[in-house]
Amino acid sequence: MSPSLTPATRERLRIAIQKSGRLAEPARTLLAACGLSWRESRDKLFCYGESLPVDLLLVRDDDIPGLIADGVCDFGIVGRNELDEQAGERALIGLPQAYRELRPLGFGNCRLMLAIPESWEWEGLQQLQGLRIATSYPSVLRQWLQARGIDAAVVELSGSVEIAPKLGTADLICDLVSSGATLAANQLKPVETLLESEAVLAGPAREFDDARAGLADMLLRRLDGVLKLKDSKLLMFRAERETVPALSRLLTDSEGLVTLPGGEDGPLSLQAMCHGVVTWQRLEELQRAGAQGLMVLSVERSLA
Ligand code: PRP
Ligand code: ZN
Repeated sequence: MSPSLTPATRERLRIAIQKSGRLAEPARTLLAACGLSWRESRDKLFCYGESLPVDLLLVRDDDIPGLIADGVCDFGIVGRNELDEQAGERALIGLPQAYRELRPLGFGNCRLMLAIPESWEWEGLQQLQGLRIATSYPSVLRQWLQARGIDAAVVELSGSVEIAPKLGTADLICDLVSSGATLAANQLKPVETLLESEAVLAGPAREFDDARAGLADMLLRRLDGVLKLKDSKLLMFRAERETVPALSRLLTDSEGLVTLPGGEDGPLSLQAMCHGVVTWQRLEELQRAGAQGLMVLSVERSLA
């Protein structure tokens, strides 16, 4: 039987991710790190989950909020910018908020920004009065303008927003900026940030009340484990008992020094899980404070 795409199948979880684009690869990598694997179908729009009953749906990022709202998908990995925009659009036509942001994922970072032609002098928000702003984020932009009492025209475009000033269809733009290369290539400069965005895990506003609840819990716990460990390192070393207080003070970003069982005499064997960056400089400081045989280990997996 081929897996149905209707909301009726409720014993498997379905996660929507971007089929291609900035978030596609990191989203798959993150889910794989949570222990998920899939059998790829030939059209590659639906990937059947093999290791767990969790299937993937590969779609346009703009479709993800709607798929969750309609119950076609249970989770989605999508930019906060897209969630916020569509939440605004839904509110405007009286639809309920059917999804919510569950976890920020730490990749796909970008900003929704106003950008003006490079030749302009930026004099502040009042300069926007009466101008035309091209954007694919009309709802976020309108709210932002309204909150600041600015009367500007919003020109809705579905793509190629950055070319609008040159074409004369708008005076300035409101678009996502990541590296800034797109703005620079179009002789535009960023002047105001409306929204800080990154990829997030989105899910339904309501809790699951069937077999998906347990699966969803497990997935979130694994995800939290993966996210927490991203920059974590396990530090192992030996030290004399009297140096331990000084060493502890150098490890404030750790979960605390743990003494490993060992002999009564001689130096203690110690370890600490550090959540900050362990640089050479830090290692040298620890060494000066009495740590011997320092080792920095990557942490693959951890379960609280
Ligand atoms: C955004 C935005 C710009 C580009 C900016 O598009 O619309 O085109 O990224 O990135 P840069 O500052 O690194 O040049 P995105 O990749 O999000 O695609 P989409 O809006 O079509 O989904
Ligand atoms: Zn898009």
